[in-house]
Order: sequence, then C-alpha cells, then structure tokens
Amino acid sequence: MKTMKVAVTGAGGQVSYAMLARLASGEVFGPETKVILHLLEIPKKPDWTPPNPTARQPLDIAEGNAMELLDCGFPTLLDVVVTDDANKAFNGVNWALLVGAAPRGPGMERKDLLGLNGKIFVGQGKALAKNAASDVRILIVGNPCNTNCLVAYSNGREIAADRWHAMTRLDHNRAVSALAVKAGAKNEDVTNVTIWGNHSNTQYPDFTNAKIKGKPATEVITDRAWLEGTYVPQCQNRGAAIIKARGLSSAMSAANGAIDHVKTFVSGTPSGDWTSAAVVSTGEYGVPKGLVFGYPVTTDGKGNYTVVEGVKLDAFGQAAFQKTLNELLEEKDAVKDLLPG
Ligand code: NAI
Repeated sequence: MKTMKVAVTGAGGQVSYAMLARLASGEVFGPETKVILHLLEIPKKPDWTPPNPTARQPLDIAEGNAMELLDCGFPTLLDVVVTDDANKAFNGVNWALLVGAAPRGPGMERKDLLGLNGKIFVGQGKALAKNAASDVRILIVGNPCNTNCLVAYSNGREIAADRWHAMTRLDHNRAVSALAVKAGAKNEDVTNVTIWGNHSNTQYPDFTNAKIKGKPATEVITDRAWLEGTYVPQCQNRGAAIIKARGLSSAMSAANGAIDHVKTFVSGTPSGDWTSAAVVSTGEYGVPKGLVFGYPVTTDGKGNYTVVEGVKLDAFGQAAFQKTLNELLEEKDAVKDLLPG
C-alpha cells in the first residue's frame, strides 16, 4: 500500500477549505493510496483581537478543518497533522501545495506584495529543501505565484528545478470553458489551450493553437474581433470579476485548478493534448533561463513534464507573449534581493 504525504499551506484559508477533502478522498491519488495531510498555518498571535465575534485565528481554523477531515471518514485518509512549523509541515512530503500567502493590504502596491510574500517563500523554499521527500513536487498557488515560485526554488536549489511549479491551471480551465461556451461545445471538446506567461492579467490565453472537436478554434469561432477583444480580456480579468461578484477571490475554482494540476501530474495528459503550468524555464521560446513561465506542458503520469516545443504564435500572440514576459522580468527585478547568487 502506497502512502502520500501532502503538505498544504494556508490551510485555514478559503482555497484550502475547498481543496482539502478532495485531496484526502482518493480522487487525486486513487483509492489504493493512503494520504497523510500536513496542514501549515501562521502561528497564533497572543494579542489578537477578533474583528468580529465569529472570527478565529488561522491556526484554529486549520484545526477545525482537520476535525472535519477526520469526520469525513475517508478510507484513504491516514492522518492529519496541523502545525505552525514549516519544518514539521514539509517533513517527508511527496507533494507540497503552497497556498498560503499574505493578501494585498490597503494602500499596498504590487511590488510591496512581491516583497512581503517573497520573504515567506524564502523560508518555505529552504524548509522544503531540508525536509521534503526525495521525489517531492511543489505547486505554488499563493500569489504572485510565478514569482513566489521563483523565490522558493532559488532558495531551495537542493530540489531539482523541474519539481517546482506555479499554478496556471485555473486560468487554463477558464480559457477552455469560455471557448466551449462560445462554440456551444462541451469542455471536453476543447483541447490544446495554453496560458502563456504570468498568472496575472498579462497572461496570454492562446486561442490560436486551441482546437474544438479537433478543428482549429479559429475555424469554429470565426469572429477574430471577439477572440482578441472579448475572450482574451475576459480570461485575463476573470479573477477580478469573481472578486466583484463574490466580494471574495475565487476559491472553489482555484482549489479545483490545484486538484486538476496534481491529478494531471500523477495521471498524465491525454494523447494529442497538453495542459498549462508555469515551470522553471530552461530557455524554451526564448524565455530567460530560470524564470517561472507559463507554458504548454505534457506530463507522463509519474510527476514529470515536458514543455511542448514548436507551438507557433502569430503577431497578436507574440505581442501578448512579450508583454507577459516583460512583467515577469519586472517582478524578478523587484525580488532580486531574495534570490541567492
Ligand atoms: P485566504 O486569505 O483565505 O487564506 C490564506 C491563508 O494563508 C490564511 O489563512 C493565512 O493565515 C495563510 N498564510 C499566510 N502566510 C502564511 C505562511 N507563511 N504559512 C502558512 N500559511 C500562511 O486566501 P485564499 O483565498 O485561500 O487564497 C490563497 C492564495 O491563493 C492567495 O495568495 C490568492 O491570491 C491565491 N490564489 C491563486 C490562484 C491561482 O490561480 N494561482 C487563484 C486563487 C487564489
């Protein structure tokens, strides 16, 4: 019987709440694999005053989530560990889902958030390198996830660069769904979608190489003005639209993106299709080596991926690609003090 140890950070937050039961249930690792969950949260603040009577400290919420997980009675769940110590949380883990990050506070600029979260990922990168299992795979969800991933892997170099991923799978799923809706097709009919670059509003959801029922999406949806002027911005700004509607950022779909990411890595991509993931560039498509960039990737079902080479971008795509690449270079510059050597 195989056992997977899975760490989840930000375990008291809303994305984790929507994700934990699915990790424990056998849906991801299969009915024959036992799962041990390690839940990491920030330490309790002794001088904390609840902003309202139902508010709780994140570590207490994580404890409550652990109680609920036990109460699910999943045959696949062996144990749940709750901790505020990253060394304990990452001890022996085969997968680490780094969801925890500080939210953007009032008056905070994007670069302030980069610095604040970057510091979290320096510590977590080191703690992973020191404690994780030799086959560990790491998915960074907490934003800004590409650059947080860059900081984490740069500080955890003992773990091979191809083990570190940042999540563009939610964007990928959004991009698939929006094409399916427009074409009156099923989600499963849409293949070969790519999210290039950053998980931000500069991402390029590439419709030019996408297919619907095996035909180029641009032959099924012939309204190029809609694709460029409505579809692309809708995908890029979907997160903001969810915040506007819910008053909270996406959680159910974000958790689903993370679950899909891990499932695809442990089960493989279907033949002829690919998925989207941000990974450490080895120079593919002219992206500077070491940048964490969203690419089309195939996976072998054993935790390994290959960046799909030779995908062609037209002039519109090339301009969009350059824009998201430039943003990632700027983000890298903003965290340069956190990148050793
Ligand atoms: P949330 O605010 O509900 O939860 C975040 C949790 O992380 C909090 O409980 C907080 O205490 C915890 N945390 C902060 N620093 C930590 C640390 N050093 N170690 C462990 N835990 C820590 O936020 P939510 O909605 O769950 O989102 C989590 C992150 O995921 C955010 O950064 C959000 O922007 C990002 N996100 C990314 C998406 C993507 O597609 N890549 C999609 C949706 C959300």
